[in-house]
Amino acid sequence: MSEPITNPVFQRAAFLSAAPELAAAPEDSGYEVAFAGRSNAGKSSAINAICHQRGLARTSKTPGRTQQLIFFRLDDERRLVDLPGYGFAKVSLSIKQRWQQLMERYLERRASLKGLIVVMDIRHPMTDIDQQMIDWGVAAELPLLLLLTKADKLKRGAAASSLAQVRKAISNAPVPIQVLAFSSVSRIGLSQAQDQVSHWLGL
Ligand code: GTP
Ligand code: MG
Repeated sequence: MSEPITNPVFQRAAFLSAAPELAAAPEDSGYEVAFAGRSNAGKSSAINAICHQRGLARTSKTPGRTQQLIFFRLDDERRLVDLPGYGFAKVSLSIKQRWQQLMERYLERRASLKGLIVVMDIRHPMTDIDQQMIDWGVAAELPLLLLLTKADKLKRGAAASSLAQVRKAISNAPVPIQVLAFSSVSRIGLSQAQDQVSHWLGL
């Protein structure tokens, strides 16, 4: 199988900064695309796959470790953002409230944010908290892509039925929402995801 032809700007992606609060984020100019999702869903792996880099965004088997906005620079005016994972059980209420406030502020106020990718495990998508994230994205009038990742773990029929279930769940949304089966391992959906990100970044 030949490698998809991607914009070389992805390969030049590099860590820029980590921000524990919105005030610490890089200047709000240019274009940004953010990745949200439950802890362990595969956000960091998706960023690495899209950028063709193994160790760009740190992946981990211990969910919910990073509670910061992680910014990756593609060029002077373009960034990808790895948002803190959600849905992990063993954290205090105050950490959950901090997370919620950080997310809401970021999604609502960040002018350079041009699109939101909600990463969900294709084997158990659309939990309550995923729905909440989608609702915030819709409220902030952001274009949305739901990335159903770890598709390599399902047979084709099961993946198709999960995709159909998610499409049905969002069919009443006030704006069209895209849904894509994806895998950082087998690269299912990778070129479509790259195309969407490139489009949002004005590439
Ligand atoms: P947090 O940063 O903790 O919120 O997690 P995350 O959403 O960034 O998940 P991460 O990318 O670290 O992946 C979590 C685990 O799932 C790791 O062990 C990855 O190797 C694995 N994983 C991620 N994507 C895929 C995929 O497409 N297929 C398979 N089989 N495993 C994956
Ligand atoms: Mg991560």
